[in-house]
Amino acid sequence: MSRILVTGGAGYIGSFIVRALSHRGHDPVVYDSLEQGHHEAVGDAEFVWGDLADQTKMYQILRHYGINAVIHMAAYCLVGESEQLPLKYFRNNLTNSLNLLEVMHQAGVETLVFSSSAAVYGEPLCTPIDEEAPTHPTNVYGETKLYYEKILKRCETSHGLRSISLRYFNAAGADRDGTIGEHHHPETHLIPIVLKTALGQREAVRVFGTDYPTPDGTCIRDYIHVEDLAEAHILAMEALESGSQSATYNLGNGKGFSVLEVLQTARRITGKEIPEIPAERRPGDPAVLVASSDRIKRELGWTIQWPNLAEIIETAWTWHSSHPQGYGDREPHPRSRKGR
Ligand SMILES: NC(=O)c1ccc[n+]([C@@H]2O[C@H](COP(=O)([O-])OP(=O)(O)OC[C@H]3O[C@@H](n4cnc5c(N)ncnc54)[C@H](O)[C@@H]3O)[C@@H](O)[C@H]2O)c1
Repeated sequence: MSRILVTGGAGYIGSFIVRALSHRGHDPVVYDSLEQGHHEAVGDAEFVWGDLADQTKMYQILRHYGINAVIHMAAYCLVGESEQLPLKYFRNNLTNSLNLLEVMHQAGVETLVFSSSAAVYGEPLCTPIDEEAPTHPTNVYGETKLYYEKILKRCETSHGLRSISLRYFNAAGADRDGTIGEHHHPETHLIPIVLKTALGQREAVRVFGTDYPTPDGTCIRDYIHVEDLAEAHILAMEALESGSQSATYNLGNGKGFSVLEVLQTARRITGKEIPEIPAERRPGDPAVLVASSDRIKRELGWTIQWPNLAEIIETAWTWHSSHPQGYGDREPHPRSRKGR
């Protein structure tokens, strides 16, 4: 059993990782400011309210809990906002995240799994995208993820920190029971937007670009179920703990689905009309983003349990239809206001 610090563990993907760690007999400790996350999402796992900006607190937590490894999820993640407020993103995703590396070094914690992103690639030259593809991020968010990966490589040579960076494509879905799921504010991801429209919370889904060189003219993306993502983190962490060297892996489904395919599948599953409105292309949105995840399959034995778009959307619908306000039906954790 390992004691794992999960920064951002009260967020969407973090909450699934925390649950998977507990199921596998590890002992997660969540560290989250609740600026975006939700205390209820953490379940029975140990929860510490705190910000990456607070080095003293992070150091105390590493020592107090005897942390063996860190899964670093905490970050700001809105691509559009990162272009408008780049300093906010450099501050949190780089400066605050450097605080973590410094306290890990001081506390002698030498393994880290990092939530990176497909945004490091920018406009792909070919698909599926493998880890050798050139990295030219087209937004500040992607830049912060790429810079942090580079810092981690430096930390290996200078401080012996071994790390695995996982470049996720589009996380989606919820658990079968609909007990935890996706609740971002604001919501920018396609599947929750489509399902919120099905619930009548939004008037229509804007389809950004209908003249792309794809079979139906809309963008194609790779949706990976959040439980498949969580499993990859556990494999990565266990590999580092058994002595593996640092690595970078893509995490995607390997299959692409267009915006219209997502809409049609969601209409079938929900039985709702889900109106759509054609809109202009968004700058920097490539036509097709599909991952090759062959490397992690080969090297860590990762397998995809949720290859099917309909099943992914079904789990998301179970969550959204049973929690129309997400975690918002209840009072926020009293600490959550402090983090803002
Ligand atoms: N959702 C996706 O499809 C996707 C794709 C690629 C990469 N990622 C990455 O995965 C990670 C998690 O994404 P998510 O969708 O679960 O986001 P999320 O916003 O739901 O979770 C992020 C969590 O980090 C916390 N946090 C942010 N800054 C913090 C700070 N300074 N101190 C402490 N806690 C802080 C937030 O409160 C939140 O709970 C992020 O690093 C994101 O960049 C997500």
